[in-house]
Amino acid sequence: MNQVNHIESKNQSSSGQSSNNSMSDRPYNPTLRIVIAESNPIVLQRLLQTVQDIGKWNIYICGEYTELIETMSFGSTDLLLLGNVDQSSCFEIYRICHQEWKDLPVIMVSHDAVIPDFYRNWIMEKKGFNDVVSSDPANHNQFVKVIQNVTSVIRAQKQALSLSSSAPSLKGDAIALTIDGKSTKSAKGTRLLSALLSNHAKILKACGGQGRCATCHVFVQEGMECLTPPTEQELITLNLMRIEKSNARLACQCKILEAGLVVEIPKGKYVGSEAELESLVGKKAQQSLIHPITGETLVYEGKLILRSALQRMQEVDREFEREMGTLLTRSAIK
Ligand code: FES
Repeated sequence: MNQVNHIESKNQSSSGQSSNNSMSDRPYNPTLRIVIAESNPIVLQRLLQTVQDIGKWNIYICGEYTELIETMSFGSTDLLLLGNVDQSSCFEIYRICHQEWKDLPVIMVSHDAVIPDFYRNWIMEKKGFNDVVSSDPANHNQFVKVIQNVTSVIRAQKQALSLSSSAPSLKGDAIALTIDGKSTKSAKGTRLLSALLSNHAKILKACGGQGRCATCHVFVQEGMECLTPPTEQELITLNLMRIEKSNARLACQCKILEAGLVVEIPKGKYVGSEAELESLVGKKAQQSLIHPITGETLVYEGKLILRSALQRMQEVDREFEREMGTLLTRSAIK
């Protein structure tokens, strides 16, 4: 592997991964391995600079097809940005990569300045790419947004795997609980989120279990007293997310202390990105669509997906960013 092609993010050592807390308690923020493939050196440099500016990653760059395959074989890649490589068809390269690395998320990087909606939908729905972005500098903001959305979903999925494999063992006091009508057991003191994940509950944790989103919220139907009381962070977030049901809890913020808990998972599918929601506009929602960060239901099952849902998602994103900014400022002043 050519060392020149591997770039580590400057802030890597500050990723906050050293802690005395147990795996299920600490914020999970893995450094993703991103491969950028593009033969045009000017475009490649621009893509590299932009991706580096977005966050902390292990970045590998490739200018040729053989180099790409070699790099992909060298380690487990979390995301491939696939541009124009050796004048080859990116669909063919995607097909080959997909055969070998089945679940690899791939974003197509187009040199076109404008990517029409119908083309983006076609690339995502028919060709299987996670998204398509333009390498044109005029589309910088859109590019950044897509990378942020896709990487936050990848992080959440990696965390799900990590948490489900690190749940406390049942050897201690196993206590009974019910998740969506199904009885199960968990060790006393288990974080509710870990118990849900090890029971394959469909739940996200966009903030990495820090109590700052609401994608892990559940409704407690019985046995609120079986859980530890809400943390200050949990109360702030539930209020911020306007989840008004009094039986809502953030699963990442509470532990199970006693038997008898009955929880219900909000029904629906988390929307991966604004682009994904946009691609569904005009269709009927097969299941409720939920915002990936706040947990708000954007479209209810059976309803037509309207452009207003997309506008609401954009509005929620902006509100969330603003509120989080205010909170961070407040805690810095304290
Ligand atoms: S994972 Fe974000 S609040 Fe629980």
